[in-house]
Amino acid sequence: MAEILRIEDLHVHLDTNTGTVKALNGVNIVQQYEEVYCLVGESGAGKSTLALAIMGLLPDTATVPAGRVIFDGVDLLRAGDSHLRRIRGKDLSLVFQDAQAALNPVQPVGQQLQEVILAHSNISGRAAASMSQEILKELGLPEPSHIMNQYPFALSGGMCQRVMLAIALVMRPKLLIADEATSGLDVTLQAEILERLKNLCRDFGSAVLLITHDMGVVAHMGNQVGVMYAGTVVESAEVLPLFKEPRHPYTWGLIQALPRLDDARKRLEPLRGVPPDMVNLPEQCPFLPRCPKAVNSCRLEHRPLMQELEPGHHVACYNPVIPEL
Ligand SMILES: Nc1ncnc2c1ncn2[C@@H]1O[C@H](COP(=O)(O)OP(=O)(O)O)[C@@H](O)[C@H]1O
Ligand SMILES: [Mg+2]
Repeated sequence: MAEILRIEDLHVHLDTNTGTVKALNGVNIVQQYEEVYCLVGESGAGKSTLALAIMGLLPDTATVPAGRVIFDGVDLLRAGDSHLRRIRGKDLSLVFQDAQAALNPVQPVGQQLQEVILAHSNISGRAAASMSQEILKELGLPEPSHIMNQYPFALSGGMCQRVMLAIALVMRPKLLIADEATSGLDVTLQAEILERLKNLCRDFGSAVLLITHDMGVVAHMGNQVGVMYAGTVVESAEVLPLFKEPRHPYTWGLIQALPRLDDARKRLEPLRGVPPDMVNLPEQCPFLPRCPKAVNSCRLEHRPLMQELEPGHHVACYNPVIPEL
């Protein structure tokens, strides 16, 4: 297998009036072609900052003190704007939570979809229209020819989300980044749209970087998982080993907090404490104040590095959880 995305030691700082937010602190991710990689973590972990950094869409207040973002063999941080403009919307696309805000309010959605197609290919307007209808149908929109003439305000949140996904997928990207793309929707709708997304991406050969705060979504979607905490990936593995044998106490806590159908005795145990202040991040392990497994050696003045505990299972922790036999 070959790599579609390799992120190496990525740091992103965001300047604010109250100090520098250290949003990303050495992120490492390797994703293969056609793979679904789920990035999961609480609000504020840096997930959206990572998505924007990959897309080259960080705000002007951002600096990137270190790191590489190698997409399809090219380091996007050093590639220049023309390269980014060429691949964005074609090989690499992004959908985020608030689709209604991302769509142009004064243009019918069909036109917005066709513009993306025409910007990246030489086909006729008629062919672009039929491609548009086709993808809208695949995303579960009834009567696509009618939907095409609608303005975003006339569509429900779920419909706008489907339209945004259609725009992001119509060029069959090598990588789709879906940042909480279905999080605002009710659970049934979310499951249906994710299922379509998964099937379409499989058909198109598109890899997906699926960003979510919801472990349930990870269980349903992922091949590979990265758990993010305070601007770094603290554990990464394939989905099954991660759920079966989480090694980082944070991952363990996230999984414990999931509702369980098979075991009525398990109560929901929400994680205690709050994520650290990203302006005044300690040099120590950032999970230390919340960690139920912290031992003296965890108080070292530098954070634990990622180590491979099992083949393909990486954890950044001084005192990893020992799997139950
Ligand atoms: N434009 C911004 N300016 C300053 N701080 C920001 C900005 N965007 C996000 N942050 C801060 O950066 C950190 C990471 O945020 P974000 O990437 O949005 O996390 P997530 O998507 O995981 O919720 C948070 O502490 C957040 O408050
Ligand atoms: Mg976010």
